[in-house]
Amino acid sequence: MTSDDKYPKVSGRRRFVKGVVGGAALAGIGTATSGTVNTMTNPSGAGGGVTEYFGIEKLFGPAPRGMPQIPVVIDDDGFLMGLWPKVSEIIEGGRKVTVAQQEIAGVTYSSDWFQYCGVQTYPGVKPLADQDNYFRYANNPPYKWQKEEVSPGAKVHIDDFEDYVTWGNSIGKAGVGKPAFATWRSQDVPPQVQMPVQLIRSTIVDNLISNAQGETKQWLQESCSQGFIAILDKCTHFCCVPGFKSFTDSEKFDGADLIYCQCHQSVYDPFSIIKDRFVALPRTEE
Ligand code: FES
Repeated sequence: MTSDDKYPKVSGRRRFVKGVVGGAALAGIGTATSGTVNTMTNPSGAGGGVTEYFGIEKLFGPAPRGMPQIPVVIDDDGFLMGLWPKVSEIIEGGRKVTVAQQEIAGVTYSSDWFQYCGVQTYPGVKPLADQDNYFRYANNPPYKWQKEEVSPGAKVHIDDFEDYVTWGNSIGKAGVGKPAFATWRSQDVPPQVQMPVQLIRSTIVDNLISNAQGETKQWLQESCSQGFIAILDKCTHFCCVPGFKSFTDSEKFDGADLIYCQCHQSVYDPFSIIKDRFVALPRTEE
């Protein structure tokens, strides 16, 4: 672990798009997922290993890296889905394994992106899980609008975000973006193994795409839609569920308009997308 991983610098700067992050983040992943991650071998389950991904940048706090994005797709009826990578069979280590992976913008988008913090054991991360990929509103959301206007389990619809340009709550500034707390690939799955998702619709997302370049621009064009961005909402530190405009104490840690983790005050910027890498854990045996 580098000292930067352990004691991140506090900075007020806002970077909108950054380039590839190197080995420091990779070295730090051991503390993010498990103290016993072996970076040299690939244990028995499927998938795992060194994994390059696009995600939101970690700005402050002990989390070693950003959280991975889930590409957003909006169907013809206006319902939001997370793109699940194409499923195929490959030969790995001399045996046939089923994988979910596809190339997007120069990276391999795969189920490995979500294999940390125990999510590697969740039913929804299995390539062939019987799930339809729609985002569904989660139970107990931190947002008053979500509690009052939509029902847990209902599919997320674009019309629920019509006021996203001006929306605000008592935390931070209005007009930064409208959030929802959702689940993905977790229908009829016990709450403790549901994949949590932070959804945000923001005009900043469209600006981000306009200002990006190269493969990052291509990635953003493929992964964001109509101002929506989706993130697997599992803190890379000790696996709590952070939130955008969810916790009032975020204001004390410069995180009122960012994604803040209440457990140990890590702050992530949902409007700064970086390419990073980490050691994904293998899925459990199928
Ligand atoms: S900062 Fe520790 S779990 Fe999020």
